[in-house]
Amino acid sequence: MIPAIALDARDPRPLYVQIADALATAIERGELAPDERLPAIRTLAHDLDVALVTVSQAYETLAARGRVTSRAGRGTFVTARGPHDDAPFARTWEPSLGRFARGERMEGVMERLAEARVPGVISLASAHPAPETFPMAEFARAMQRTFADDKPELMQYRASTGDPDLCATLAEGLAARGCDAGAGEIIVTSGAQQAADLIASVLLTERAVVASESPTYPGTLGVFDARGVSYVEVRSDADGVRIDDVERVFAEYRPRLFSICPIAENPTGTVLPARRGRAIVELARRYDVVVLEDQTGWTFAYDAAAPPPLAAYDPEGRVVMMESLSKSIFPALRIGYLRVKGALRDSIEAAKVRTDSFTSTLTQRALWRYLRAPAYPRHLKSARGLYRHRRDLFVEALALALPWAEVAPPQAGTNVWLRLPQRLSTQAAFERCAREGVLVMPADPFYPTRTGPPALRLSFGDLQDDALREAAQRLGRALA
Ligand SMILES: Cc1ncc(COP(=O)(O)O)c(C=O)c1O
Repeated sequence: MIPAIALDARDPRPLYVQIADALATAIERGELAPDERLPAIRTLAHDLDVALVTVSQAYETLAARGRVTSRAGRGTFVTARGPHDDAPFARTWEPSLGRFARGERMEGVMERLAEARVPGVISLASAHPAPETFPMAEFARAMQRTFADDKPELMQYRASTGDPDLCATLAEGLAARGCDAGAGEIIVTSGAQQAADLIASVLLTERAVVASESPTYPGTLGVFDARGVSYVEVRSDADGVRIDDVERVFAEYRPRLFSICPIAENPTGTVLPARRGRAIVELARRYDVVVLEDQTGWTFAYDAAAPPPLAAYDPEGRVVMMESLSKSIFPALRIGYLRVKGALRDSIEAAKVRTDSFTSTLTQRALWRYLRAPAYPRHLKSARGLYRHRRDLFVEALALALPWAEVAPPQAGTNVWLRLPQRLSTQAAFERCAREGVLVMPADPFYPTRTGPPALRLSFGDLQDDALREAAQRLGRALA
């Protein structure tokens, strides 16, 4: 049965994307069964009153997403999946929650991971930093000094943009990376998650077009999902997003926002070369796009110093930068920050007041002291050394255990993106790994449109050497 497809002239997505998205949703919900034949291009074009080429492009898009297969002379069919193993993670039924509710990006995945977390299992699923790197003693000293040296007035209600000393120190850190920033351009947030939410709240309305690298960090995508945006995905290669594709997408779709993690891209671990960063800023200027760059993870670039943030090439303020300190210090801080200028800065400040007034000054003051102590660069160096060691060991173990796989060592960060052969769906691979006692993160939530080539994210940051070797062997057995 062919689902009703409602085309909307006000929707900024081109007609073929609207048709492809509607059919993908129908497939996900089981309204179109595996192996079911899609209507002939001519029939659907007639029914929807669109050109033949529009339907043909929609079918090509679905084929590229792995949702349909075209069989020469016979038509286009919904891609067949295996029985239980291939049940999609996405929800199959949606209650009516109003027009902004779109379902939770990680739904299905988190439940399945929780079910599979039995004793003896090794988890490569969560990209958590290694607790043994957390600078507990030094941070405790910074906290004690805060209580001892700061006046009680500092614990009063304070400016929503952040503690001025911490803002100045974060701005100095950016200047040392080639990005001139005044302390007034820093807004301290409760984690990078809040930074993304603040940006989305001031820039994105329902159906706004967000261009995004793909795959990318689902935490930020979840924020965009909640605003009801439409995604356009930008293609990447081994060095991150491709500039020709950024230009194509900017010219064709005129997105409101372009979202990118230039360094330690989560999940692929790529580092975008400086010349590409500069080119993106030039294109953003030409096509009037705001860029949101997530610099989380720049501290853990292994093979060369991390290039400057994209914001370094942007005197205008159309690049908004955010960074989390969760990976470089520890997640319990709940501190991140934005570097943002001009009118956008003022709107974000107002949004921060509305959201939670200000981020804990107590933590900010201790963090300020810690960032200025000699212990901080020592801590970064030793954490980077530990992660580099784990990366090398894990990549080598994977190469032995998965001889068919092309495993690119991540240039930064603590994730390996494992592309699967087409014979194996992401869901089937996930289930096989769980049966072998190793948990992995399935690819779907990392794709803005939630569909893409089969892959798994393997996070190695918080596992000891023996566990990494054993995990690789279990993966080898599961995916043979
Ligand atoms: C790219 C990226 N940005 C942001 C975050 C989360 O930041 P926070 O803990 O500050 O919300 C993560 C955590 O995994 C991440 O990988």
